[in-house]
Amino acid sequence: MSKRIEIKELLKNPPIGEAVYVKGWVRAFRSNRFIALNDGSGFNNIQVVVDFEKQPEDLLRKVGFHACLAIKGQLVESEGKGQAVEIVAEEIEVLGETDLEKYPLQAKAQSMEFLREHAHFRMRTNTFSSVFRLRHAISFAVHQYYHDRGYYYLHSPIITGSDAEGAGEMFQVTTLEANNAPKDEEGNVDYKQDFFGKATNLTVSGQLQGEIAALALGKVYTFGPTFRAENSNTSRHLAEFWMIEPEVAFNDIFDNMDLAEDFSKYLIRYCLDNYAEDLEFLDKRIQNSEKQMKAEDRRPMGLIDTLKFVLENDFERITYTEAINLLRSSKPYKKGRFKYEVEWGKDLQAEHERWLVEKKFKKPVIVRDYPKDFKAFYMRQNEDGKTVAAMDVLFPGIGEVIGGAQREERHENLLARVNEMGIPEEELWWYLDLRKFGGAPHSGFGMGFERMVLFITGMSNIRDVIPFPRTPGNAEF
Ligand code: 4AD
Ligand code: MG
Repeated sequence: MSKRIEIKELLKNPPIGEAVYVKGWVRAFRSNRFIALNDGSGFNNIQVVVDFEKQPEDLLRKVGFHACLAIKGQLVESEGKGQAVEIVAEEIEVLGETDLEKYPLQAKAQSMEFLREHAHFRMRTNTFSSVFRLRHAISFAVHQYYHDRGYYYLHSPIITGSDAEGAGEMFQVTTLEANNAPKDEEGNVDYKQDFFGKATNLTVSGQLQGEIAALALGKVYTFGPTFRAENSNTSRHLAEFWMIEPEVAFNDIFDNMDLAEDFSKYLIRYCLDNYAEDLEFLDKRIQNSEKQMKAEDRRPMGLIDTLKFVLENDFERITYTEAINLLRSSKPYKKGRFKYEVEWGKDLQAEHERWLVEKKFKKPVIVRDYPKDFKAFYMRQNEDGKTVAAMDVLFPGIGEVIGGAQREERHENLLARVNEMGIPEEELWWYLDLRKFGGAPHSGFGMGFERMVLFITGMSNIRDVIPFPRTPGNAEF
């Protein structure tokens, strides 16, 4: 009896009539008698019934919201509704009290913004415990998926000298002092004297190294943090986020789309099969929060129904050119409701992507063959001379969750593109070498991990699915 039992285990095989010992945090406390205790092991709390008259006098004062308690008592069948068993407390030790006058969180619905400012406490709420259990589940499922299919997990570097996306949105890594950096003859900072002997940055993608590995190990994936210094203060962007990047030798763009769809569905199915309680809770939470909304602002389907719907239907597949034509004949286009231009050659904006996914097809859409002008240098040039074998997977409520491509494997074509885009050839010597020696057609993509977690949990802001978000102006915790 001196050994603690985790609450999940206790509820799975309840030792009714026996003495039990549990520890956890107070999730709810009502009628000065019933404590809902949770130790993080699972979604469900154990109810503890306390007769405070039989306890030390000052105990009641210490049993506040989110206080940490160790409780010994007897497990009995519950007479109340809502739980099968409960603990009749005998001994209660307060491991960590909360002074309710000073504790910032309260036992009521609180805004996501407020909880974000208290990220050191927000994981104790039902919502965030569920979100972070699911985040774990999804990352575990990522490894399971690729491992089961014979892929190798590649650890691509976090510090690099290259800009994989060519978008220039990089955080510099240096040991030079900003105010006192050595200069070269032309007066520019002399990175030869920096730690690595050259300018370096935090990686924006592990793809280029993934390609090296794919051309030896065949099928690989990376799953690591990536960093982008883009000044996008939106509910879909983070400065530090995680990306999953499979890279596969011999796959073309169509194999790549099949993989993206199968992989996305696997992650969703894994959560539905193994984390139903957390998903049901999040589903109800959304429905409650939408009660005051106007009908047209509510989501068309509940969370679990949405996830099942995505599983049961094929993703729509269209080309960029088809997408432009559909958009130009859409109602919002004709009524001038799109803020951004819809014209062949211009990138699709979030409003266009959401119309395609939410209004036109009502399911995930894979758009491929984009104009080369706004896509990265490494994408395979199509026969038309205008487009590249790029693909984006767009999800309802979110937009782009996956971006990928068949890679340009022809040395002359790649070199021409690199020069055309003004990328210094010498920085990419090893990448170009892959096309000169033992090259092969290959494809891959990057899934934004937090965007996928956002979709599966139904949360509305990407800052609420990563434990400690980094965004412009914010690196607290
Ligand atoms: O489309 P992106 O930029 O593609 C690449 O980086 C490729 N190198 C991937 C590859 O082919 N191996 O980024 C991939 C995904 C996006 O679709 C999006 O889901 C996510 O990464 N992403 C972000 N997520 C959160 N915050 C940001 N600032 C993001 N930027 C991209
Ligand atoms: Mg993209």
